[in-house]
Amino acid sequence: MREFLVAGNWKMNGSAADSEALVSGIVEGAPAVAGYRLLVCPPFTYLASVAGLLTGSNIALGAQNVSQFESGAHTGEIAASMLKDVGCEYVIVGHSERRAMSGESSDIVAAKFLAAQAAGLIPILCVGETLQEREAGTTEKVIDEQLDAVLVAAGIDAFESAVVAYEPVWAIGTGKTAGPAQAQDVHQHIRGRLAAHKPELAEKLQILYGGSMKGDNAPGLLSMADIDGGLIGGASLKANDFLAIAAAAAQS
Ligand code: 13P
Repeated sequence: MREFLVAGNWKMNGSAADSEALVSGIVEGAPAVAGYRLLVCPPFTYLASVAGLLTGSNIALGAQNVSQFESGAHTGEIAASMLKDVGCEYVIVGHSERRAMSGESSDIVAAKFLAAQAAGLIPILCVGETLQEREAGTTEKVIDEQLDAVLVAAGIDAFESAVVAYEPVWAIGTGKTAGPAQAQDVHQHIRGRLAAHKPELAEKLQILYGGSMKGDNAPGLLSMADIDGGLIGGASLKANDFLAIAAAAAQS
């Protein structure tokens, strides 16, 4: 039985005070039951203070991006070892906003995945198609290419300590959610692709859904066989909205 993971990707939002208020609200309100885990991914500048507020809770800390390089002359970049140092357990790699706006290719994403694991972090590998790609009937092909870049670079065993997030680009921040059956189809495809390499590993892999997930649509999505949690943007910025999704996971 896979545990649910409900992850908040705060993106580039909030102040120090907002971050502290948000995480305190989440810590106070998180349902204390087994079978699910919460994760928050604040901006880099607030990782340390949020880490302090998470002490003693079962809520994990993650970052939104990481350098593919270990250290050195990479102005403005943050190394995986630094994220580990500040208390991160997870890091998001390959978010579609970074693929589209920062020109991250699948090869760069694969290098970041490897750098994260080398430092002992769990990468959350984001994959997903644009609306144009979906309408052209190439959803599975696009996702296969994104997955395969990491499979070739890291090997199937690397997915033992990784999470995959399916985030259809057309559903991110748009209020349009993939329907449960529509998302399930892609999740099942992802698991199947990895199962072709190692079935027992694919069975254990957590595959999260991301894209306008909210308290009202979470129960339907989380009821699907291959959806093991969510990667939440907008609804992770208010404690009550995030906790509504956590409650759906806790009850699923
Ligand atoms: P929204 O929940 O705002 O659609 O964002 C999803 C996302 O991009 C999480 O990484």
